Amino acid sequence: MTTLFHLPYVKIASTVTLLTSLVLFIGCEPSERETGVTYTIPEQPEMATGYTEKPGWATSEFAVAAANPLATDAGYQIIKAGGSAVDAAIAVQMVLTLVEPQSSGIGGGAFLLAWDGADVHAYNGRETAPAAADENHFLDEDGNPIPFRDAVRSGLSAGVPGTIAMLKHAHERHGILPWAELFTPAITLAEEGFNVSPRLHGLLAGEEALREDDIAAQLYYDENGEARPIGYNLQNPALAEILRQVALRGNEAFYTGAVAESIVERIRAHERPGNMTVEDINNYPNQDFTTEAMCNEWRAYRICGFPPPSSGHIAIMQMLGIMEHLEAPQAGFEDGTPTAEWLHQYLEAAKLAFADRNQYIADPNFVEAPAGDWQSLMNSDYLAERSLLIGENSMGSAEPGNPEDVLSLFGLMQEQPDKGTSHISIVDRDGNSVSMTTTIESGFGNRIMSDGGTGLPGGFLLNNELTDLSLRPYDDDGNPIANRVEPNKRPRSSMSPTLIFDNESGDFLASVGSPGGAAIIHYTAKAIVGMYDWGLNAQEAINVPNFSNFNGPSVLEEDRFSDDIIRALEAMGHEITERAQTSGLQAIQVTPEGLFGGADPRREGVVMGE
Ligand code: GLY
Repeated sequence: MTTLFHLPYVKIASTVTLLTSLVLFIGCEPSERETGVTYTIPEQPEMATGYTEKPGWATSEFAVAAANPLATDAGYQIIKAGGSAVDAAIAVQMVLTLVEPQSSGIGGGAFLLAWDGADVHAYNGRETAPAAADENHFLDEDGNPIPFRDAVRSGLSAGVPGTIAMLKHAHERHGILPWAELFTPAITLAEEGFNVSPRLHGLLAGEEALREDDIAAQLYYDENGEARPIGYNLQNPALAEILRQVALRGNEAFYTGAVAESIVERIRAHERPGNMTVEDINNYPNQDFTTEAMCNEWRAYRICGFPPPSSGHIAIMQMLGIMEHLEAPQAGFEDGTPTAEWLHQYLEAAKLAFADRNQYIADPNFVEAPAGDWQSLMNSDYLAERSLLIGENSMGSAEPGNPEDVLSLFGLMQEQPDKGTSHISIVDRDGNSVSMTTTIESGFGNRIMSDGGTGLPGGFLLNNELTDLSLRPYDDDGNPIANRVEPNKRPRSSMSPTLIFDNESGDFLASVGSPGGAAIIHYTAKAIVGMYDWGLNAQEAINVPNFSNFNGPSVLEEDRFSDDIIRALEAMGHEITERAQTSGLQAIQVTPEGLFGGADPRREGVVMGE
């Protein structure tokens, strides 16, 4: 059980009473249809690496977009067999566990938004800290945080996995096909093998810590320590067996018995052991995964995203909202890139949003929203006030604001690296849609693999989601950091699964999201602006060069912006760093002709549909 602590906020004039509301949605009964999944392993043509132009995909009835062609195909075959968008998302996730193990899987957590034609439902499968975790979790004997890298690669960083239980809950509300059938593609591929992709090979080759895990070393490397080559037929018998059991027995097969025991044993056997217990895992499914989606107006649109513990939707709506209060530059987008004037406004708005994120956003079961409502951070008057801080030149870095004149007594969290993750967008034949972002956090998570107690080769990777909590519990002045480690707490996230609607008609317009750590927020914002401000289609919007700011120097995608733009930003006082910004955006939008999907040219994703 988590406890809601009434942590101190001070109204600048007086103390305020804070309330938290939880709206429970009642899902629809699964509809009855003639169904049956007959899975066929598709052709696996060799994929290219690096930036690969993608065409964009026009379909008329349904579309599935995921980070790997085999995962996309699994969702496609599930919808062909009569499945819903949520059914397809489950099949996609199970295949991603196998074929994109670096990014997400059953050892991690996820946020899912589902549109059923009437309501947006939000399901929170975020990992939780063990009951025995406390604010000293990542501190050494002198009370200092251990090195971040050591924290990631440890048993300490593993949160109790949430993906399976959350998907089971969502399936009970939105599923059409039987749960067990959704596992057929992943079980088949795990048994018969799949071709290692260039991206997986490259990441395995560059990875050191994974080789230290005996199960992972045997699965992903040969006897000389060489990464399995591109095209190698990789089988994962342990994962096939675990998924077979989960297909048959649901949560019980993962959250009790051999799998739960194996997770704990692996975490505790690490040289930096964690303190998760079997009881922590047993307890995870006993919660309500339903939360309330956050929907906010922006221009003619209603943008729906995930509430805290995600910081994604709030930051995106703050940035877009702040920019609405600024005089729009004469040109915002020219010759395939945003202009320097537009970038200046965006990057400054980003600093303001990230300052607030580091002050306020944490698990709402532990931390009150400022003024009792997270909407206070997106309130138009507040954003208007924040916009006044943006001038002609860069502000350097921003301080957090005081929404509704509330002064937070929390300390400011320092930025910590976070990466990895995968995004799934789906629209089914009924026009229902899913936007799901899913993660084991860092590339290959905490680099600990469990075979689920099967004794078979292979298994699944565990997450390092707890390093999304602040390693330091207090700031230099001794103020508690909102996102510090506490028992059973969910780490703050940047994941930004987003559904977009026409504000007037309520019609569904698009599903979008991305991996990329804190840059998820910027990648997703870019796609929204690209589609609904710059008039680009989903693929063109995804292709736009990436740009980010985390309340400091600005990061531009390397070799994608002209010298003129970089010089103009520097002249305004921006500190510019150019580097790869490997977004993994997936988007599906409704067009007058049907559906149009885009997948990021920087990764291996594709869209399929009919
Ligand atoms: N670990 C990625 C995120 O939740 O933002």
